[in-house]
Amino acid sequence: MKENNDRGTVLVTGATSGIGYALSRRFAADGFSLVMVARDARRLEEISEEFRRNYSVETHWIVKDLAAPEAAQEIFDESRSNKIHVDILVNNAGFNEHGSFVETDHRQELRMIQVHIAALTSLTKLFLPAMVQRKQGGILNVGSTGSFAPVPLDAVYCASKAYILSFTEALADELRGSGVKVTALCPGATETQFASRANMEGTRIFQGRLMDAETVAEAGYRALLRGNTRIVPGFANKATIASLRFLPRDMVARIGRWMMSQKPGYSA
Ligand SMILES: NC(=O)c1ccc[n+]([C@@H]2O[C@H](COP(=O)([O-])OP(=O)(O)OC[C@H]3O[C@@H](n4cnc5c(N)ncnc54)[C@H](OP(=O)(O)O)[C@@H]3O)[C@@H](O)[C@H]2O)c1
Repeated sequence: MKENNDRGTVLVTGATSGIGYALSRRFAADGFSLVMVARDARRLEEISEEFRRNYSVETHWIVKDLAAPEAAQEIFDESRSNKIHVDILVNNAGFNEHGSFVETDHRQELRMIQVHIAALTSLTKLFLPAMVQRKQGGILNVGSTGSFAPVPLDAVYCASKAYILSFTEALADELRGSGVKVTALCPGATETQFASRANMEGTRIFQGRLMDAETVAEAGYRALLRGNTRIVPGFANKATIASLRFLPRDMVARIGRWMMSQKPGYSA
């Protein structure tokens, strides 16, 4: 996969829409070959064609539900059998199950934990050793501003995103000097399919100002290449996260609850 291309190969999970699509396009525009993972085969084929045509890069796609426990190993095996060396791993796939914990769908929450925590950890476990051996590579894990706070009405989602930030920060320290860069991209509310898929378009946070996926992807892309451990895109998001440090955790949770609750007067 690297023959026609000296930038290397990037594997992106959740490449079919939103931030993952924007990241894939950013890497392709810079000459990286792509391996794109998601469940929507038709869309994967479509964007593979698009990137090949527009950026003359090699593309490969793997249809996989990351909520399946064996998904990470199967992705790794398929990459290996196609002789693909992954230079950069982007763990982006994710979704939300919004609402009061006593009412949310627990099967969805378990799937979320599998995608956000187990699959992300296993993909890192499988692809990282070769990067360390080659003394170069990168891992970009997509967290959230919710990684920094307990958020009622989004309790499992934000707890799973806190894992991503903590895991990334610890790994970045372990890998210092190894040649492998590890970055957590922690976006705030962003205009993608995320909110509609989770039926949370009417929440105060998604009725506020949204960033666009391209700006978020650009911030993540640059932070990874620079070797920053974490990046919160956008001035307002940075300011919000900085201010959390000075507030008691209970107050942070109350603010989080307000943000996640329905905006009065909203109708779909
Ligand atoms: N949008 C926001 O406001 C926001 C804020 C902070 C963080 N984030 C994070 O950003 C990441 C990308 O989300 P987005 O906003 O770009 O949402 P999106 O437009 O809904 O895209 C989500 C992507 O993840 C893939 N995906 C979801 N479940 C999957 C599964 N079980 N197996 C494989 N792929 C799966 C989807 O592909 P298929 O449906 O084709 O499988 C899609 O490509 C997520 O980790 C999300 O938590 C988003």
